Amino acid sequence: WGPYGHAIVADIAQERLTPQAQKAATALLALENHQTLDQVASWPDTIGHVPKKKGGLPETLKWHYVDIDVSHPAYEQTRDCPDGECVVEKLPEEIKVLADTHASSQERLVALKWVVHLMGDIHQPLHAAERNKDMGGNAIRLTYFGNNANGHMNLHSLWDEGVIDHEADLHVGPFYSIDASRAKKEADRLGALITPDETKYWVQDLDGGDVYSATVDWADESHSLARSVAYGALPANKGADIGKDYTALTWPIMELRLEQAGVRLAAVLNTALNGG
Ligand code: ADE
Ligand code: ZN
Ligand code: ZN
Repeated sequence: WGPYGHAIVADIAQERLTPQAQKAATALLALENHQTLDQVASWPDTIGHVPKKKGGLPETLKWHYVDIDVSHPAYEQTRDCPDGECVVEKLPEEIKVLADTHASSQERLVALKWVVHLMGDIHQPLHAAERNKDMGGNAIRLTYFGNNANGHMNLHSLWDEGVIDHEADLHVGPFYSIDASRAKKEADRLGALITPDETKYWVQDLDGGDVYSATVDWADESHSLARSVAYGALPANKGADIGKDYTALTWPIMELRLEQAGVRLAAVLNTALNGG
């Protein structure tokens, strides 16, 4: 997702934290003078493209996604993530660090930032799929309502932020800048749509306590939605303008994935931070 997607996921989760998790998260965030999860939600996207000697972490670029070809039904670690450097393997690792009361506060804060971010990314369908080596749709250039964003519009960016921008009127500014209050408003709108039954159903795969298998489930859901909707709803003729029809089919799925990511992020944090 782009910065609005990540902030929305963080805001949905923030409202659903237990008092204990709330307190523990606030204490970690305070180390960097932050107050709420949305303030750190996009941090991992600001360090990947910065060279190591300038303080960046280029080795983390692959942590945001997993390329599962659409010809495959589901994630397989040996095939899709042999080096362990993908979202399915990294997210549970960071959750473990966050839950480790013997880790330093600084380490746990970094882990918190990764968990908030990657819980969002793993729910973005195109972060768990690729077709014809298109890198999650990054290689598929298109126009959206006649606009190509100076050549920068592609299928992946459309899912990360193009449709959110269009449907919720959330325009990202320079250097990932967003209006936090407008993200919160959209999070509140989506949060109000979530029923107790949905919440219960969405966190079911966490019930056994096996975070890794739950993570695989979320990636498989994304992969399946990429096949059926992100790629499946594309018009057959390449180069066609994408607009009203594609938005009508995909925006409800994006809303669902942001909601699920927020609810599940809260569940993960409530468990990981239950020891203070
Ligand atoms: N780069 C390569 N594959 C990608 C994907 N599925 N999502 C985001 N970035 C990618
Ligand atoms: Zn993306
Ligand atoms: Zn990311």
